[in-house]
Amino acid sequence: VRYRDWRWQALWWHHFFLLWNTIDGQTRYTIPEELKQGSVVGPLAKDLGLGLSEIFDRKLRVASEAGKQYFSVDTGKGELVVNERIDREELCGQRASCVLPLQAVLESPLQLHRIEVEIRDINDNAPIFPSNHLYLKIAESAAVGTRLLLESALDPDVGSNSLKSYTLGKNECFSLKLKEIEGGKTVPELFLEKLLDREQKAVHNILLTALDGGNPVRSGISEITISVLDINDNIPVFEKNVYRVTLPENSAKGTVIIQPKATDMDEGLNGEIEFSFESRTPDTVLNIFDINSLTGEIILKGDLDYETNALYGIDITAKDKGTPEMEGHCRVQVDVIDVNDNAPEIVLNSPPSPVRENAPNGSVVALISARDLDSGDNGKVSLQLPKSSPFSLTPSFSNNYALVTRGALDRENFSVYNIEITATDEGSPPLKSTKTIPVSITDVNDNTPIFSQPSYTVYIKENGIAGSILYSVSASDLDLGDNAKLSYSILDSKVQDVSVSSYVYINSENGSIYSMHSFDYEKLKVFQIQVQAKDHGSPSLSSNATVHVFILDQNDNAPSVIYPSSAVHGSLSQQRTSRSSKAGHLVTKVTAVDADSGHNAWISYRLAEATDASLFAVNLYTGEVRTKRAVSEQDDSSQRLLIEIKDDGDPVRSTTVTVSVLLEDGLHEPILDLRHKTDDSHKKTGRMALYLILSLASVSVLSLVTFLILAVKCLKSSRSSGSCCMRRSDSEDYKNPNRNLQLQLNTDGPIKYVEVLGGDMMSQSQSFRSCLSPTSEYSDFTFVKPSSTTDFKDMINVLDASLPDSTWTFESQQVSIKPGQYTTY
Ligand SMILES: *[C@@H]1O[C@H](CO)[C@@H](O)[C@H](O)[C@H]1NC(C)=O
Ligand SMILES: *[C@@H]1O[C@H](CO)[C@@H](O)[C@H](O)[C@H]1NC(C)=O
Ligand SMILES: *[C@@H]1O[C@H](CO)[C@@H](O)[C@H](O)[C@H]1NC(C)=O
Ligand SMILES: *[C@@H]1O[C@H](CO)[C@@H](O)[C@H](O)[C@H]1NC(C)=O
Repeated sequence: VRYRDWRWQALWWHHFFLLWNTIDGQTRYTIPEELKQGSVVGPLAKDLGLGLSEIFDRKLRVASEAGKQYFSVDTGKGELVVNERIDREELCGQRASCVLPLQAVLESPLQLHRIEVEIRDINDNAPIFPSNHLYLKIAESAAVGTRLLLESALDPDVGSNSLKSYTLGKNECFSLKLKEIEGGKTVPELFLEKLLDREQKAVHNILLTALDGGNPVRSGISEITISVLDINDNIPVFEKNVYRVTLPENSAKGTVIIQPKATDMDEGLNGEIEFSFESRTPDTVLNIFDINSLTGEIILKGDLDYETNALYGIDITAKDKGTPEMEGHCRVQVDVIDVNDNAPEIVLNSPPSPVRENAPNGSVVALISARDLDSGDNGKVSLQLPKSSPFSLTPSFSNNYALVTRGALDRENFSVYNIEITATDEGSPPLKSTKTIPVSITDVNDNTPIFSQPSYTVYIKENGIAGSILYSVSASDLDLGDNAKLSYSILDSKVQDVSVSSYVYINSENGSIYSMHSFDYEKLKVFQIQVQAKDHGSPSLSSNATVHVFILDQNDNAPSVIYPSSAVHGSLSQQRTSRSSKAGHLVTKVTAVDADSGHNAWISYRLAEATDASLFAVNLYTGEVRTKRAVSEQDDSSQRLLIEIKDDGDPVRSTTVTVSVLLEDGLHEPILDLRHKTDDSHKKTGRMALYLILSLASVSVLSLVTFLILAVKCLKSSRSSGSCCMRRSDSEDYKNPNRNLQLQLNTDGPIKYVEVLGGDMMSQSQSFRSCLSPTSEYSDFTFVKPSSTTDFKDMINVLDASLPDSTWTFESQQVSIKPGQYTTY
């Protein structure tokens, strides 16, 4: 453009000097550019002083020195008009004034007039930016005051219509500054007013407007896009500073506990986060937890145990990949929740000590404690004992207990208690454990020795060998050791005024009782020994038992003849009898006694030899010698009879007596000898008879009373049983000492021998009966026999009617007798 301007100017100056000679006046017009074709520029003809006819005649025309003919002359009116659009900017560019020189040419005569047309600028151009969209980049870290050069706008118009100012669209960070460059020109610049933050606004779009000074104002717009370049200026940030997780201690491996989230506002690598544990994380955490570096998930990889570690603090780092890298932190707090995974434990703090069986309530046996590794309710332990246990637990301080006795102990029942203690915690479900504590009970001498029987009954034959074993008693003691070790002894008592220890002794070790004597039934029939068994405890305990020794009769005595008394001396005893005696006449009566008893004393008489066996007969039982027939004159006056007297023992013992009988004429008092003898004894007999009567009377009364009591008892008990038994406790009468009566009678009376036993004798285990034959032949024969050795069933008889009172008549109903029990007939 400049080049063109310059050429155009040169040309113009050449024409100007050429024309200057021919032109006398100068005409100048001013028009705005861009007029329409035909627009009148000025009255050229008039200004040249030409009339209308001259215009045509002289052929007025204009010629442009430039190539283009922008103007022409209207031949009708002689006005200069615009021939072509005129663009000032094209013609004159940025020059301040734009004048087009013209020549008005007149012919005949040739006349040249110089005409100037000044083209005035109008604001027909808007400012224009070289590019309407400008892309810029700026670092996020750019400091305040940073400038960014922008493009200048161009406006071809000149003067006031040219570019005048710029305005910047509204924004926070930038302002517009103009920078002057050479030649007084200015360039717009962006000025950073405030720090940028990509994370807040990554792209700034601003409109730059260029304005000219025309009226109306024209503008040009350029859009500026500024991209803020990221700087790693943001640390990764966790959503929370502290994450809390509760985790049951039995959580499975592989469980994802938590995923802490972190964000980094930067972009690209600056915003890429990698998770890790803090570098100083202890092994206790590393062994149990793992972290996913990409996602940040924390994973359980080990076993949790509330009891070893209930709380974990895990420091997590989130790191971006920028340069320099930036990191953020958070803490994950893992609270392990207790699960009832530990059974309670019972601990024996002191070994159980043996307890005496008489230990009072509350004696301490052992100290125990309970513990549970769990916590809270899971660790609360309670202990239980079986309800029946004679022990209890006394709590002392925190979970410590004393095992104490609570009830009576008995070593004889349980020598060892296995105390089962159950511990239960309060978890859900509760866990249990048991422990058995053996507690041994030590013996206390609390059991007396006990004899195998409360009393013993021993039968021994008389005439035994001294030093032989009478009996062996035995006692037992439930205690242990010395408390059960027994010694036997015999308690001193008198037997027939002699100390019992002179009769027997006892083996203190085993209770065997030895006789020190040979016993004679005829002297001692029964005696009692009190034996004592004593243990070796301290204090010792003892118990007593009674041994009843019954001496059994042996047939060791031959019958001895009492009458005729001379027979004792072996001399002949003379009996006289009258020749006039009839058959059956009592000649004499042989009386013998046997010191033995029972069968051994059951005497029978037999005529062994006789001068005339046909004349006399001896009664087998009474010993009466009677005539068999009437004595005749032919009978020898001196008769000799040999009478054998036998007892019923085994072996039989016998004795003989020789009786000589003198047959005399007219003898009326045949037994003078006897009378004389009986005279003497009559007084005795009288007294004896009186005693006997009194005794019998008293016995009878007693018997009657007894009988009545029995009768009442029998009536009462007959409904339930057929037997009529009377026990010792029922019969007070038998304790009556009056019953301890023994009578022996030797008379011609109906009773020859009566033995009445009672009182203490009767209270022995043996009962005795008095049996009297019902027939007259047996009436004066009495025997006494221990009932247990003989079956008396057949021999039970009724007392002879000759007794003053027959109340002794009882019916036998039961024969077997137990010790300590009576049977009354
Ligand atoms: C011991 O304790 C038990 C149970 O508490 C009770 O029945 C018994 O009477 C007590 N004995 C003594 C001697 O206190
Ligand atoms: C021992 O056992 C007997 C019989 O079984 C019983 O009667 C007694 O009460 C028991 N004693 C103790 C202390 O358990
Ligand atoms: C007791 O001891 C004596 C002597 O050692 C012996 O002869 C006797 O047979 C024993 N008695 C018992 C019941 O063992
Ligand atoms: C045993 O008998 C003796 C002597 O009679 C007496 O002192 C003692 O108390 C009795 N013992 C028993 C347990 O009855």
